[in-house]
Amino acid sequence: MKCTVCQSDWRRGKCTARRIGHRGSQVPAQSAQISPALTGTVTVPGDKSISHRALILGGIAVGETEVTGLLEGDDVLHTAECMRRMGATVTRVGEGHWRVRGVGVGGLIEPADILDMGNSGTGARLLMGLVAGHPVTAIFTGDASLNKRPMARVTEPLSRMGASFVGRAGGKLPMAVIGARDPMPIEYRLPVASAQVKSAILLAGLCAPGETTVIEPEPTRDHSERLLGHFGAEVRIVDAADGSRHVTLRGQPELIAAPVVVPGDPSSAAFPIVAALIVPGSDITVRNVGLNPLRVGLFDTLIEMGARIDYLDRRVAGGEPVADLRIRHSELKGVTVPAARAPSMIDEYPVLAVAAAFARGTTRMEGLAELRVKESDRLAAVAAGLAANGVTHEAGADYLVVQGTGRAPGGGTVATHMDHRIAMSFLVMGLASAQPVTVDDTHMIDTSFPGFGGLMTSLGAILS
Ligand code: S3P
Repeated sequence: MKCTVCQSDWRRGKCTARRIGHRGSQVPAQSAQISPALTGTVTVPGDKSISHRALILGGIAVGETEVTGLLEGDDVLHTAECMRRMGATVTRVGEGHWRVRGVGVGGLIEPADILDMGNSGTGARLLMGLVAGHPVTAIFTGDASLNKRPMARVTEPLSRMGASFVGRAGGKLPMAVIGARDPMPIEYRLPVASAQVKSAILLAGLCAPGETTVIEPEPTRDHSERLLGHFGAEVRIVDAADGSRHVTLRGQPELIAAPVVVPGDPSSAAFPIVAALIVPGSDITVRNVGLNPLRVGLFDTLIEMGARIDYLDRRVAGGEPVADLRIRHSELKGVTVPAARAPSMIDEYPVLAVAAAFARGTTRMEGLAELRVKESDRLAAVAAGLAANGVTHEAGADYLVVQGTGRAPGGGTVATHMDHRIAMSFLVMGLASAQPVTVDDTHMIDTSFPGFGGLMTSLGAILS
């Protein structure tokens, strides 16, 4: 028998691979079937993007950073372990409650072993940026999915800052990052809308003298900028007349430990929210959902489609806007989602495609080229999942059109390709489709949403 996560031998109830953070598993495929009205109040785990950044910035700040609400998913646990290997003291105090004692900007130590980033593109790219600014060498690797993903998007600007890289053909992990002895500040215009690339450059820029500027043709999530400011760095943001955003960091600051309160992840909240919209009679509340304006594209789109989503008790927590969301089953209609909205909902297209299958009419999603280089080729995986479940659609190089008929037929088995969001999206589909939906592998769900199955069943979902 093989481990279904890494294909190593499975013996005596354990995976024989001894990779850091890898638990291995033999959990089989899972099915979702037509469920009664979903009801109740839930809280989703902490925001993945903010959790990575809290550990990274805490790890290079002076003093002890207290983090609450941290996502304890596998992706973030890999980042925690890698920060430890580079000198930070990272301790779990209680559920979601962590303390990080940092080494100071420029103070990373060279890791004695390979840095395994698991499934996490965010962890890998951000830490490659951080290492690039330090005079240390680190070798990065990941799982089969991460080792297929493009890294040239970060190695290109980081090379300009003085780092060098030795990796596989096509700029893939495993890769050695040889950090710059004297990093140089750069001004860099992002060729792809990517918060990971922006953040990698800013993290390298922390160790460079002078000002590092990233120009974003389309603004992407700004958690790095917000948290850098929170830890005492000087960050200037200018919105230019042409719609681009210029983010400038003054290098070599002293970062001072500061408490971080991590809000619930809107990208995780998306799953119970869409489930409640499509399961007749549902009425649920999801508490403490992060509503950073650069993350709410899905909610805006769903509301345009006719979703009944109420924002309750809007407030600011830990420097980010949050609210409790009440969601009721809704009759949805098809809409066109413009390419300009993609950066603010980039991770939500798989679950939007599911909502679109339950809407009436055509939903057209444009500007999806980046979906091809996520944890899987998400555009192809979504299209295959829709096809397996009888949903009429058309997928192009960078667009997806879904013909909604009010209800997806279901009845198919979906290949998840090691992609947590594909697994969760199609399980959501099965809760309201005419026939059950099966996904072939649910392990990866733990990378971003540990407890997904329990949370959904607590609302009334039937998963088996
Ligand atoms: C993330 C940025 C996005 C997103 C990912 C998290 C981040 O990736 O898809 O899940 O935390 O910066 P890109 O930067 O590749 O768009």
